[in-house]
Amino acid sequence: MNAKTGKNDPAEAFTLTDNRSGKQYHLPVISGTMGPDVIDVRKLYAETGCFTFDPGYTSTGSCESKITFIDGERGILLYRGYPIDVLAEQSDFTEVCYLLLYGDLPSPQQKKKFEYGITYHTMLHEQLIYFFRGFRRDSHPMAVMCGVVGALSAFYHDSTDITDPKHRMIASYRLVAKMPTIAAMAYKYTIGQPFMYPRNDLKFSENLLYMMFGNPCEEYRVNPVLSKALDRILILHADHEQNASTSTVRLAGSSGANPFACIAAGIASLWGPAHGGANEAVLNMLTEIGDKKNIPDFIARAKDKNDSFRLMGFGHRVYKNFDPRAKVLEKTCHEVLDELGIEDEPLLDIAVELERIALEDEYFVSKKLYPNVDFYSGIIFKAMGIPTSLFTVLFAVARTVGWVAQWNEMIEDPSQRIGRPRQLFMGEPERKYTPLHKRK
Ligand code: SDX
Repeated sequence: MNAKTGKNDPAEAFTLTDNRSGKQYHLPVISGTMGPDVIDVRKLYAETGCFTFDPGYTSTGSCESKITFIDGERGILLYRGYPIDVLAEQSDFTEVCYLLLYGDLPSPQQKKKFEYGITYHTMLHEQLIYFFRGFRRDSHPMAVMCGVVGALSAFYHDSTDITDPKHRMIASYRLVAKMPTIAAMAYKYTIGQPFMYPRNDLKFSENLLYMMFGNPCEEYRVNPVLSKALDRILILHADHEQNASTSTVRLAGSSGANPFACIAAGIASLWGPAHGGANEAVLNMLTEIGDKKNIPDFIARAKDKNDSFRLMGFGHRVYKNFDPRAKVLEKTCHEVLDELGIEDEPLLDIAVELERIALEDEYFVSKKLYPNVDFYSGIIFKAMGIPTSLFTVLFAVARTVGWVAQWNEMIEDPSQRIGRPRQLFMGEPERKYTPLHKRK
């Protein structure tokens, strides 16, 4: 079926010939409003007896979506049709949350109501706070976050009926609102400081900074340049189409699991260094490089097929020219460094030099490997004094709205079924069991 014409146009069908039998199969081609057409293979197995094989899903569209569009060749990223650089420049994080969840920009009244709704869901159930004490003090805050977000399902039974749109929206608000509180508490716990309760007079990013860096003994003044930079980073990370963690949330949700459990699954997936964990890995890599003079050795290692080392914060599955988020962050990075008066920070010097060398290197140029969003966010977070172990946690805070928007879209999609891929089996064919006493 062609989405634009609403007709099943045979001229647009994709013909597949099985050279073994000479049979031909006509597969429908579906056009979206933008982006490449897709070949509809839903009936392929029933008609041909074959599956498609696509590990890593490089050529597979897993769902229909109206939320985020990426053109990787041209470096375009749109949330609900709005370019990411425009949103980063002119919008704020709560407005972007509204946009992702509801599909349109809010009126001033809608924005006020939405911000009120988010603000008044930021506190955690007091009993939930005792969960933190069950973790070791040296736990990674992502480990704590995975556990505590999963535990939300044990506390908020009045928002786990996924068939009820009201329950779904309350769960969505709760997740977006409580993630900063959980993130800050996960951090405070590891440094042995008291938890800071959210403050309703502060904006989303200001409150996040306050809960992470404030303490009960003195007044905490939010630096507007830093809260603006954090807000921008949150906007840039809010959604990104069907990436690994979002696909994980959708897959977990496809079985009917509750939203808190699904988001906990997304957090687990995000944690990996090939995905959201890359921002932390960037800083660890810069520390390991240690000196600008060592950069060529690390570049050589990244190019060596027999070495598992990769330049963290470089490369992307979809972006093959540049990551538009990285472009915005590059500018923000300089603003933050200027504001903080940082001129001579060794790790930042290494980062700038590494970027320069890699961008001129034939290997990286020919493979279209550019700095991605995690390269610059790591540097900005470092300059802002945010501990390295919190980098991926902040990514999770930002991405929660994308996860819940995509989860809601999936539940509302009438064609939604449980996700259940098949496989190419390469193991032993059926064989006869030999009792233990007869084996040699
Ligand atoms: C995020 O998808 C999303 O949307 C994710 C994300 C989001 O917003 O949700 O954008 C967030 O996860 C950003 C990516 C963060 N990860 C890193 O920075 C880790 C380092 N980068 C890579 O490991 C890698 O580039 C990936 C994981 C990002 C992409 O992996 P792909 O698409 O599977 O590509 P690949 O690993 O097959 O690489 C293709 C080629 C290979 O060489 P050949 O085998 O073809 O010779 O490029 C090489 C790779 O070896 N390569 C690198 C490299 N990245 C790819 N070589 C050196 N250093 C690198 N960083």
